Amino acid sequence: MTEFQRIEYEPTPLLPPAPASGTAPAFIDLPRPRLAAGAPLMQALAQRQSTRAYADTPMTLDTLGELLWAANGINRPETGGHTAPSAHGFNEIDVYVALPHGVYRYEPALNRLVLKHAVDARNMTGYQDFVGKAPLDLVYVLRGSQVLATPPQQRELFAAISTGAISQNVSLYCASEGLATVVRGWINHRLLADALRLNEDEVPVLAQTVGRPQAQ
Ligand SMILES: Cc1cc2nc3c(=O)[nH]c(=O)nc-3n(C[C@H](O)[C@H](O)[C@H](O)COP(=O)(O)O)c2cc1C
Repeated sequence: MTEFQRIEYEPTPLLPPAPASGTAPAFIDLPRPRLAAGAPLMQALAQRQSTRAYADTPMTLDTLGELLWAANGINRPETGGHTAPSAHGFNEIDVYVALPHGVYRYEPALNRLVLKHAVDARNMTGYQDFVGKAPLDLVYVLRGSQVLATPPQQRELFAAISTGAISQNVSLYCASEGLATVVRGWINHRLLADALRLNEDEVPVLAQTVGRPQAQ
């Protein structure tokens, strides 16, 4: 089976963001991760794969907190170091979280989510049919103002590398916890930037869907 056949699906038209389901608090404090949880790294590596069929099971706050900490949380509080590397430690990639009740930005330093837009923007994060069904879509956003000291010809490359490290952290966390995930580059950058209420210097780079796998 070729890769093209494996990722074939019916694309869906982009719809406007749906109204938020439930109330969207301005801040959501995240629980600390369980550091001894999950399958060992080698088993997680053995199980990592892309999945494109999701159950609509909601994600618990505990799981969301662990997932985001794994993505790019602070793992060395004494230095402010993150779980993912970034060139010069600029940490120019923000993790946005599209949930049924709102779009949030992850703040690693305070281990919390900050409300950006009280809409359900999951269906805006890509064209594929599972995108609005899974309980969570992450969007990795380059904050351009953070990399002005980087030579222009290296900015996109370094941002892509940092995004890859963050998304792989998420993929390995998912594999270790039996969650399904897929990273997605097929996004409408302009519409997604509007839905996430991004500033002029902020650019969506990649999306990643997370959820429980659909029962076979
Ligand atoms: C940068 C990048 C962009 C991708 N974009 C998409 C996408 O838009 N939609 C999708 O279904 N899969 C996407 N994928 C997932 C690949 O199709 C998948 O990794 C590949 O088919 C190999 O399958 P595996 O991840 O199960 O090993 C992307 C992967 C990468 C690294």
